Amino acid sequence: MFRFLKIIVFQKHLKFKPVQYLYPQQKNMFNLILFGPPGSGKGTQSEHIIDAFGLQHLSTGNLLRTEIAHQTELGMEAKRLMDAGQLVPDAVVIGMVGNFIDARPDAKGFLFDGFPRTTAQCIALDALLKEKNNEINVVLALEVSEEELVKRLLGRGLTSGRSDDTNETIIRARIQEYHDKTTAVATYYAKFNKVVAVTGEGTVESIYADLKKEIDARI
Ligand code: AP5
Repeated sequence: MFRFLKIIVFQKHLKFKPVQYLYPQQKNMFNLILFGPPGSGKGTQSEHIIDAFGLQHLSTGNLLRTEIAHQTELGMEAKRLMDAGQLVPDAVVIGMVGNFIDARPDAKGFLFDGFPRTTAQCIALDALLKEKNNEINVVLALEVSEEELVKRLLGRGLTSGRSDDTNETIIRARIQEYHDKTTAVATYYAKFNKVVAVTGEGTVESIYADLKKEIDARI
């Protein structure tokens, strides 16, 4: 006990404070993964959720499209893969996510949209959050039929300018990539009882109401 008190007194008089005083560990963030196949409404619902709950929106698709718009080397390499409906390498995406989280030390929490997409990304995300004494609170998984996904994405392709939306073969390749590599994300978090399925068909408002109910129950 006395030894413990002595350490506190000693630390009080240190000129250079120990690291934990300079960078206090973040706690009590609410971190949510909005999960689902391409076109399931992750981006649409994210806008409503971040407004209502004050979370930071992290969309790896948007981050990659910003790199493409700036014609960076990373962006040009990503574009080649995205236009083919394939995933960008884990190391690239994980690096971007780490930078995004580190740049927002005061965040109340994060909404992850389109990330993680592989088991390796799940493990990396858990490690990044653990560094901040945090974790994923819930994975809300939007369920939409494949024909509805294709219809929505082809519809958006008429106006969005997204090259991966204009061709049905590419859209189906994105959906196949989701089945091959990304459904593993739900399997990973199901082991921790964190996955909740939500119907992703119906009006945007009714789906949002279902998502909100799940968040309200946990936040
Ligand atoms: P990303 O940008 O994440 O695209 P995605 O997952 O394919 O998802 P979308 O944006 O197409 O769909 P969404 O679910 O957000 O639906 P939205 O709300 O937009 O990724 C693009 C590419 O980047 C990937 O293919 C990959 O190459 C790469 N990438 C990204 N992250 C990566 C990662 N972590 N690792 C590796 N590679 C990565 O809605 C779609 C349309 O439907 C809209 O027009 C919308 O208005 C409409 N809609 C929405 N809700 C409804 C509704 N209820 N009823 C009718 N229409 C609706």
